[in-house]
Amino acid sequence: KTQPTLDKLNRPLKDLRISVIDRCNFRCQYCMPADVFGPDFAFLPRRELLTYEEIERLARLFVQIGVEKIRLTGGEPLLRKDLSVLIQKLSSIDGLKDIALTTNGVLLTKHAQSLKEAGLKRVNVSLDSLDDELFGEINGRNVGTKPVIDGIKAAQSAGLGVKINMVVKKGLNDTEIVPMAKFCKDNGLQLRFIEFMDVGSTNGWKMDDVVTKKEIYTLLSEHYLLESVDPDYFGEVAKRYRYQGSNVDVGFIPSVSESFCSSCTRSRLSANGQLFTCLFNGNGHDLRDFMRADATDEEIIDRIVSIWNGRTDRYSDERSAETIANRKKIEMSYIGG
Ligand code: GTP
Ligand code: 5AD
Ligand code: SF4
Ligand code: SF4
Repeated sequence: KTQPTLDKLNRPLKDLRISVIDRCNFRCQYCMPADVFGPDFAFLPRRELLTYEEIERLARLFVQIGVEKIRLTGGEPLLRKDLSVLIQKLSSIDGLKDIALTTNGVLLTKHAQSLKEAGLKRVNVSLDSLDDELFGEINGRNVGTKPVIDGIKAAQSAGLGVKINMVVKKGLNDTEIVPMAKFCKDNGLQLRFIEFMDVGSTNGWKMDDVVTKKEIYTLLSEHYLLESVDPDYFGEVAKRYRYQGSNVDVGFIPSVSESFCSSCTRSRLSANGQLFTCLFNGNGHDLRDFMRADATDEEIIDRIVSIWNGRTDRYSDERSAETIANRKKIEMSYIGG
């Protein structure tokens, strides 16, 4: 067994979130507002993206130094051609315990079966409302809920684990909290309510827009009896509860009101091969050009280990008016959430 790779706060490197593409077929207000990410927006050109061979090589090296779980993100990861081919490559890595995908679900109807066959274990699907009109407004593309719900059902039928992510923004979709809870409970789906976060610099985030875990919990408790559940793994971001008398859980990702930096074991690789040590730290570390300049596996490992060893990030713990105004931020669609 390899030694854990620790950062300055003694947090082991355990997860790698890989963004495979910075584009998306949605324009969610809280992530890629349509007026910023318009027709002329400069997305990464193809040659800038890591190839599947490059991703596989880096993934193997990360696993050698302690990573056990890989999650593919975007933008929308299913917009990258033949994603199953990448999943298959990753599935062959010894020591990797979990391969997951975060998606808006629209393309799952088409791809769920082949993703499962390639070795994908589970998907987290974003769905912020059950109301077609409101959902169309939030996703910025007037797409109704049907393609997403069909995608969710396709994933369930294919045998993939499925969780639903709902970002809650005050005055926008807080009326959907209870309907979403009922829908997910009835369909055996774990729903996670996510506090709206100040990622990037384009989503107009204000503290007033956040609906806290406590507020949502109080509202849910008026409709359901909930009992606390222990975390599935060290550093799970969601705090989970079970609907009493059922086997369905509901969770909260309270990154604003109850930060979880002290157990943060996550590294992030952008689609163009930069390593980020926090969702809110805009200083990326190049791995792609280093690798393309013929670095050996040992040299790449040394670089990753030294970056992780120097890590001090704990943005959500430190969030304040000063950090909100002065930190260099990265967009969610680029870093993958
Ligand atoms: P599981 O493996 O299923 O627990 O997935 P996950 O919750 O780690 O991943 P997912 O991509 O579904 O993310 C759900 C929400 O949690 C998104 O809004 C992410 O941005 C947020 N999130 C995940 N990791 C972190 C983190 O390290 N810090 C913060 N602040 N938010 C995070
Ligand atoms: N705050 C919280 N969650 C966000 N996501 C995207 N933008 C934000 C934000 N500003 C969520 C998506 C997806 C996950 C990867 O991140 O809804 O479920
Ligand atoms: Fe696309 Fe997901 Fe961002 Fe929405 S939240 S714009 S679906 S990447
Ligand atoms: Fe990890 Fe940064 Fe999120 Fe804290 S804010 S949990 S350090 S990614």
